[in-house]
Amino acid sequence: MKIEGGHTLNGTVTISGAKNLALPAMVATLLTDQPIILHNVPDLADVHSLLALLEHLGCSYSFENRTLTMCTKNIVTTEAPYDFVRKMRASILCLSPLVARCGSAEVSLPGGCAIGLRGVDLHIRTLVLMGAEVSIEDGLIKTNAPNGLTGCEIEFPKVTVTGTENALMAAVLAKGTTCLMNVAIEPEVTEFAKLLNLMGAKITGIGTSTLEIEGVDKLHGAEFEIIPDRIEAGTYAIAASATHGSIFLKNCLYEHLQYFFTVLQQTGANVTKQADGVLVSNGNGIIQPYCIYTAPYPAFPTDLQAQYTVLMCLCNGTASVTENIFENRFMHIQELMRMGARIYIDGKTARIVGVPSLKGAPVMATDLRASVALILAGLVAEGTTTVHRLYHIDRGYENIDDKLRACGAVLERTKQ
Ligand code: UD1
Repeated sequence: MKIEGGHTLNGTVTISGAKNLALPAMVATLLTDQPIILHNVPDLADVHSLLALLEHLGCSYSFENRTLTMCTKNIVTTEAPYDFVRKMRASILCLSPLVARCGSAEVSLPGGCAIGLRGVDLHIRTLVLMGAEVSIEDGLIKTNAPNGLTGCEIEFPKVTVTGTENALMAAVLAKGTTCLMNVAIEPEVTEFAKLLNLMGAKITGIGTSTLEIEGVDKLHGAEFEIIPDRIEAGTYAIAASATHGSIFLKNCLYEHLQYFFTVLQQTGANVTKQADGVLVSNGNGIIQPYCIYTAPYPAFPTDLQAQYTVLMCLCNGTASVTENIFENRFMHIQELMRMGARIYIDGKTARIVGVPSLKGAPVMATDLRASVALILAGLVAEGTTTVHRLYHIDRGYENIDDKLRACGAVLERTKQ
């Protein structure tokens, strides 16, 4: 993507459905032989990659106007091979529903990931505690539970988003009651639990860090609306603030970004909650430094760390950004420094000394959120920035080119 920087962004961006809810919600089709209808599903590369895997497992679907109708009458294979899983780590979500419905699963180990180790040990631990036998053979997580899964008490030693979702899918069809402690409470996780209840599951404690699940014999079909993507909304909020513009984030749910918006206000942005969205602008043109660290919800999300770092590059002083979730999520920083940013990394913390402006340069994207951070940097920089290896962006941002252009950005894809 070639970006001509220096244009103030003004306008309205309609926020798409949340990728990190759409993916687990789609996987829930594996838990029932009845139709699941999902509305407001974003048209993203990750959604299509997951659809290909679900189809391989026996799901049939239609996807029109952001409504996804899916039905998995029969599961035709319990193997999720590497070719599907390597494209998208969220494929690990298929593990529990396959075991819960079929008594066995062979899901490829996801393998390397640009932003860190991203273990799946906690996904496996849950199934073992619920009575499954698990072995790693030929790069596959081979899981067997011929007599079904049995409810028990499980405390997560670390908060994990997909780990909680996999545990929920194991527990809803297990014998007896499961108590999950120290679960993730990200809005995507609580919404996912609500979908499972719509399908006939018995989950209580939704929204808290302890969930109690009474297993049922069977789940049924459901119709469900995907909430707006808070990470996409936060990204456009930073675009407004960093370019000294004003963007109305249509459909954005203020409550899901409450802490993030408080931080943005500390940096000088005006944030106004309205009936159908949130208006973000940077009134006086000065970006104040403000230090953040990432942590599980409701704290500052790791998925907005790279974008926030770009904002702080232009701050009026010195700020620090600490990444506590993933151990290798500063790869955008080397590229930002090539654009004139002054950043010093010390372990998990990046100390950022604000500069008056960034300068356009060719840069290389490494992962989804790093990609969008480099686009933001290009938008605020003087001159032209070319972001290479941009394919990650379409995994997580629907129509980003058009959405930015509608607000006055000047950019083009030189290659699809
Ligand atoms: C999800 C999101 C991702 C987001 C992340 C953090 C989806 C599809 N992906 O990823 O976009 O960046 O949450 O909000 O929703 N961990 C283990 N063992 C495990 C599981 C996790 O050690 O078995 C560690 C991870 O390495 C990481 C931390 O726990 O350090 C949190 O990871 P987790 O919340 O599981 O992230 P994902 O669910 O992969």
